[in-house]
Amino acid sequence: MLSTFSSSISALLDARAEGYTLPAGLYTREDVFGADLDVFYRNHWIYIGLECDVPEPGDATVIDIGSTSLIVLRDDDDNIQVVHNVCRHRGSRLLDAGPTVISKLVCPYHQWTYELSGELVYAPHMGTNFDKSCRNLKTVNFKSIGGLIYVCLSDTPPQDIANLEAVMEERLAPYDIRNAKVAYQTDVIEKGNWKLTIENNRECYHCAANHPELCVSFVEQDFGYDADTLSQEDRAEAEEYQRLYEQRIKAWEAGGYPSAPVEQLAGHATNFRTQRLIISGKGESQTADTTAASAKLLGKMSRKDLGDTHLWGHNSWNHFMGDHAVTSMVIPLSANRTLVRTKWLVHKDAIEGVDYELAKLTSVWIATTDQDGELVGRSHLGVEDPAYEPGPYSPFTEGQLDNFATWYVERMRAHGY
Ligand code: FES
Ligand code: FE
Repeated sequence: MLSTFSSSISALLDARAEGYTLPAGLYTREDVFGADLDVFYRNHWIYIGLECDVPEPGDATVIDIGSTSLIVLRDDDDNIQVVHNVCRHRGSRLLDAGPTVISKLVCPYHQWTYELSGELVYAPHMGTNFDKSCRNLKTVNFKSIGGLIYVCLSDTPPQDIANLEAVMEERLAPYDIRNAKVAYQTDVIEKGNWKLTIENNRECYHCAANHPELCVSFVEQDFGYDADTLSQEDRAEAEEYQRLYEQRIKAWEAGGYPSAPVEQLAGHATNFRTQRLIISGKGESQTADTTAASAKLLGKMSRKDLGDTHLWGHNSWNHFMGDHAVTSMVIPLSANRTLVRTKWLVHKDAIEGVDYELAKLTSVWIATTDQDGELVGRSHLGVEDPAYEPGPYSPFTEGQLDNFATWYVERMRAHGY
């Protein structure tokens, strides 16, 4: 059996059949988990947070990815810095996980002290010949794309992030996410492998039965459906949405808002897809009644009818709407535990209780994220069962999962597995 410990990771990758889910061991084995962290979280670009997580000089936050700990901070010149959370003396962690405010980075162990730029400025009792300049904090390759911070822990990061940057800087510009405000954040630990989390996010096959709150504003568009299996009424509705979607895309594009799907996947290290989706009902926002949750629109937005700019990566999904944005990142904790961190963003000057109510802003995606966590947990339990064997993806609604699984195998191969 391929999920047993004796088969190599390479044999598991060989066993993956196109159109089917992955062999069990690729979701469940600890050695595969280690390989995944190395390939997808060390050697690819990953989304770890936002510029507006650290809005003021001295704001810092710590993000842990496997055994790596990163400090994201805003320095005294208002620049974002990402440095390793490892003292250059004897390696102590400098800061604990989570947000904080600092004027300098002082190691709690022997008080070596670093400027917010990472420069070592104080290291007592090291002798007159000690060269502090060789002991600055190690920096991390990062890019802020429209205010979203991506890092790559490799010394040779994939260059094809340039395409994501070119597409999304333009698409995100009107939302001014760099200067947004994080109104709320949740951490959900899903009891499943990170690839099940991503697969679950890339289809809405499960939405009608599981996401009553989301389905008020979110409809299948351009994801495909099998018209033959729909009732006449549902087929008419699906066709109407498809017509509306195509019409809106044309109108938005003509109005200067890039909206058509752009995807980079097979043959590339950096995996992303973006498209502007329509919001049903009143069409403004993913809220319980589909109207805007915040009276102050994001950034330079002047319209609420620009749908939902959706962006997926291999460890994130995001929705940018006129009045707010919802952004989720996926950090694997173990083979069967995955952190999903979700943030709700509003205009930086929007005031809770005046411009928006937190319950209206967050209710749809809090419910949806909890429901998805439950589904991923169920899915992982089934995959761990010896009776599991890879199952067929729907050619109509799960094509993106098939593409993701194929990309996963391709990237593992590219890294020598
Ligand atoms: Fe940081 Fe010694 S380990 S000062
Ligand atoms: Fe879902």
